[in-house]
Amino acid sequence: MNELQLSQLVMQRCDALGKISEEPNRLTRTFASSAMRRANKLVGSWMRAAGMQVREDAAFNLLGRWNSSHRAAKTFLLGSHLDTVRDAGKYDGPLGVLTAIAAVELLHKRGAKLPFNLEIVGFSDEEGVRYQTAYLGSNAFAGTLKSADLARIQEKQIVKARRRDEFLGYAEVHIEQGPVLEAKNLPVGVVTAIAGQSRIRVELHGVAGHAGTVPMDLRHDALAGAAELVLATERCGVTATVGKLEVAPGASNVIPGKAFLTLDVRHQSDARRLAAVKSLHAKTRNIATRRGLKLVWTPVQENGAVQCDKKLAQIFSKCVAQRGLDVLKLPSGAGHDGVVLSQICPVAMLFVRCKGGISHNPAESVKAADVRVAIEVLADFILKLAEL
Ligand code: GLV
Ligand code: MN
Ligand code: MN
Repeated sequence: MNELQLSQLVMQRCDALGKISEEPNRLTRTFASSAMRRANKLVGSWMRAAGMQVREDAAFNLLGRWNSSHRAAKTFLLGSHLDTVRDAGKYDGPLGVLTAIAAVELLHKRGAKLPFNLEIVGFSDEEGVRYQTAYLGSNAFAGTLKSADLARIQEKQIVKARRRDEFLGYAEVHIEQGPVLEAKNLPVGVVTAIAGQSRIRVELHGVAGHAGTVPMDLRHDALAGAAELVLATERCGVTATVGKLEVAPGASNVIPGKAFLTLDVRHQSDARRLAAVKSLHAKTRNIATRRGLKLVWTPVQENGAVQCDKKLAQIFSKCVAQRGLDVLKLPSGAGHDGVVLSQICPVAMLFVRCKGGISHNPAESVKAADVRVAIEVLADFILKLAEL
């Protein structure tokens, strides 16, 4: 198969995977769901067709391996994630796994013999939809799971996914999820750093009551307090989102007694992110006190900003330049499994232009021609690594 056919195959495979969902009529594939098991089976069959040895680990990560004939060879990792957000687009995650499989096929076609093993990983929980905290799959793989993560989840066996191998590095292709490459008219870009993030679970407990009889000045309305927090989040000075809000008991004639929110705060500077979280916590305490609400503030995730490895990024840049393209270096506002893997090996990322910068939305869209560039650059990158 030539490069053009491989890019078309990746697009078809993204379409096929986009149909594997745990919800009717929209794409949702969360950690450890039966949809994820089905997706792993299908992607595993594609890895096998590319000549790889395939298995699923105890954390539902899908692993495809191409062993080097060199004795005592170390391993280089490629990949991305196969879980999705709710009502997702079909490229966030799967594009990186399927591009890696296509690059392996291209390397075989070029007759490559690698001095290292190549392993493609389809991580199981980059989005963190099921338990709010992200990266369960990559944390299990890297051996960096926290006891608080384990306490929160049912699947305690995921600790067994821990790998003790020495990895040479991890490279991930991912859609940009922003508008910069499109504005610069470039198919791909080299990632410099990944923003840090904090995720917090917030509960406000008030008093449920009759919507017709309790006077307005005697209420302890949990949702009204939550609404103040949503607006404070919007004005907190860094990138921050309340992505989920639940109200109980949830009836039109009942004053909300409880509100549950998720808070997601990001910044390239850890100091600015942490300051924003501190200030939002203080504001929420004030809101709760003023309204007579009880506040439960539970941090569930904390990841510092991560710098991509300069040497690997340089190799990606060379491969992009060799195709006659301008090299654009850009940071990632989104989180990626590389954040976790950076604790055990150097990491690098290549972004692919996406239409309108739209992501976490079924309208997510990439061009086959850009995917072709990503496959070629990734294959060149592996060959350059092999020459080092
Ligand atoms: C993953 O997409 C994240 O950045 O939350
Ligand atoms: Mn992603
Ligand atoms: Mn995502």
